[in-house]
Amino acid sequence: MAQRMLVTMALPYANGSIHLGHLVEAVQTDVFVRAMNALGRECVYICADDAHGTPIEIGARKAGVAPEEYVAAIHAEHDGDYKAFGIGFDLFYTTHSPENEAHARKIFARLQEDGAVDKRDVMQMYCPTDKRFLPDRYIRGTCPVCSSPDQYGDSCEVCGSTYEPTDLKNPRCAIDGNTALERRSSPHYFVRLSKYQEWLKGWVSSPGRLQPEIRNFVDKWLAEPLRDWDVSRDAPYFGFKIPGEQSKYFYVWLDAPIGYLSSTDHWCQEHGRRVEEFFGKDADCEVMHFIGKDIVYFHTLFWPAMLHASGWKVPARVHVHGMLTVEGAKMSKSRGTFLNAREYLDAGLDPEWLRYFYAANLGPTPSDIDLSLTELKNRVNGELLANVGNLANRALSLIWKNGGRLSKVPSSDFFDKARVIEEQIARDYAACDTRSLVQRVLGFSSEANQRLQQKKPWELLKGARDEALSELTLAVNVARICARWLGPIVPKFTEGVENQSGAELKWGDFEPLEDLAIREPKPLVRKVEDADIQKLASKFVAPEAKAPETPSMTIDEFGKMDLRAGRVLSVEKVPKKDKLLKLSIDLGEGAPRTIVSGVALSYAPEELVGKVVAVVANLPKKEFGKGLSSHGMVLYATGGKREHTAVELPADVAPGSKVK
Ligand code: MSP
Ligand code: ZN
Repeated sequence: MAQRMLVTMALPYANGSIHLGHLVEAVQTDVFVRAMNALGRECVYICADDAHGTPIEIGARKAGVAPEEYVAAIHAEHDGDYKAFGIGFDLFYTTHSPENEAHARKIFARLQEDGAVDKRDVMQMYCPTDKRFLPDRYIRGTCPVCSSPDQYGDSCEVCGSTYEPTDLKNPRCAIDGNTALERRSSPHYFVRLSKYQEWLKGWVSSPGRLQPEIRNFVDKWLAEPLRDWDVSRDAPYFGFKIPGEQSKYFYVWLDAPIGYLSSTDHWCQEHGRRVEEFFGKDADCEVMHFIGKDIVYFHTLFWPAMLHASGWKVPARVHVHGMLTVEGAKMSKSRGTFLNAREYLDAGLDPEWLRYFYAANLGPTPSDIDLSLTELKNRVNGELLANVGNLANRALSLIWKNGGRLSKVPSSDFFDKARVIEEQIARDYAACDTRSLVQRVLGFSSEANQRLQQKKPWELLKGARDEALSELTLAVNVARICARWLGPIVPKFTEGVENQSGAELKWGDFEPLEDLAIREPKPLVRKVEDADIQKLASKFVAPEAKAPETPSMTIDEFGKMDLRAGRVLSVEKVPKKDKLLKLSIDLGEGAPRTIVSGVALSYAPEELVGKVVAVVANLPKKEFGKGLSSHGMVLYATGGKREHTAVELPADVAPGSKVK
């Protein structure tokens, strides 16, 4: 195991505020780094703003400022938010830096030298009034599959289909609403990722590299030839110009991860170090990235391939956390279930409450975590305050009132136990299993609280003062050990215990602290009041309170729908449309119908064959271009194991039967 570590979290986009979801990642990473440093490793924590890309360019334009100015203002805001939550970066830099431009150019050149870059024409939608090619997210129109209006250029939020933006009906530019869009072609640079496919298979299979759940995903991607990756974008764009090009830029996702390397480089320059000590191919260092579930592809395929091709050290580990939901609902601006870091701070809530809550909930797997404000209150008050906090505070207060000095600890097995538990806790920290270690700390602290409850030193003080002080000294010692274990999670709380008990906290130290003056005890952390919770809760709409999203309809309207049972006769993939399946369905009409469904990611073709499914039979025929037309719609349920689950009818229902 390398002594040195370089740890990063994903670089937040510089076009919006830090929200409580970002903080899951920031807290998890910060806790990890603090723990590794406490355990004696040299662990450098690097982050930066991800400053490039179309949304930022457009955001700046709307704000009427230069993009550099726009991202600088956001950087200052992000920096303040992270500091307020105790996120202890060694550097919070930006991808819009000279170091990043230099590294991006070099890495791109190495990919070219390696023969991994092709240049070829790409047909895209172009808005002549904006004078720009439109990224998928900036085109809106009618879904080619279900005809829902106002859908994005790459996928339909109503029926879940994905398609090419050029398939969208009545497309318009989402920036200026222009409907007279053109199709234009322009040359783009592609990285042939498949060139590194075999190498990547080896990289992912190394033990400890990826969590098993993530490995599963990535293995599936690697089982098929990897698609070429378009790494260029046309002007106007905010980013780095591709050398030798007049109006082409590196795609933001090319230079964003390079930001890890270039920010480390910047930190090294400022600290008299060399970037090779961390990212050098043979450096005695482990590079580890913390990311969310949504950006796994970039971090487990593109990024390691880029590093490998350019001769840098590849990541030792990519750790993926789940997504945050708030009171059971996905964070969504439009639904009002969105909480910014600032809103939390402005409501007067203590950042350490959130740090504690996240750590107590986060385990080693990428499962999602839910922020329930009631649970936050219960856990902070019932665990951090009532258990560990109370042990420290009760013991210190009684000692303070009775001479203010620690005496000698009575004989007990607390220190031997602590030695064993500390090893387990160290392993938990390394595995990002803070949920488990919090339970260990609480268990140990409870034992000491129980002993206090039995010995009742507050009563002993009247007749057996020595014994009383001795018991209280033990309690202070156990509280100190618990506090050091929680230090990476709630550093201020821990500092309070350290200061009040009068001596430094050190991991690996199991000598009792005795015969020493303590300082005046003060509350270690404020109690969460109902008013705190209400203040924050008022900033978002609880999911129950929200009106149903679909407008109601009449029974007559429902009656217009001709719903029938259909037997699936055969299913084929649609060439070049990797989300579509072409189904041949018997509706009892003599000749089977062809129906196209956007479910190829949920079902292999053969899995659907033979099923009797619910079909909307009276929709008009719809053209998918090139001789493919769909007549009708198969119904799929959401919310199952697959993204789409066919609505199946019992096998004895005859094809063509009405469903009503
Ligand atoms: N800029 C890219 C990352 C580039 S890394 C070279 C990006 N930025 S982001 O701001 O959208 O997200 C930053 C990180 O926050 C990602 O890891 C993402 O998964 C995480 N989260 C964003 N929303 C989240 C939740 N609701 N919950 C937990 N993490 C979330 O992606
Ligand atoms: Zn649709």
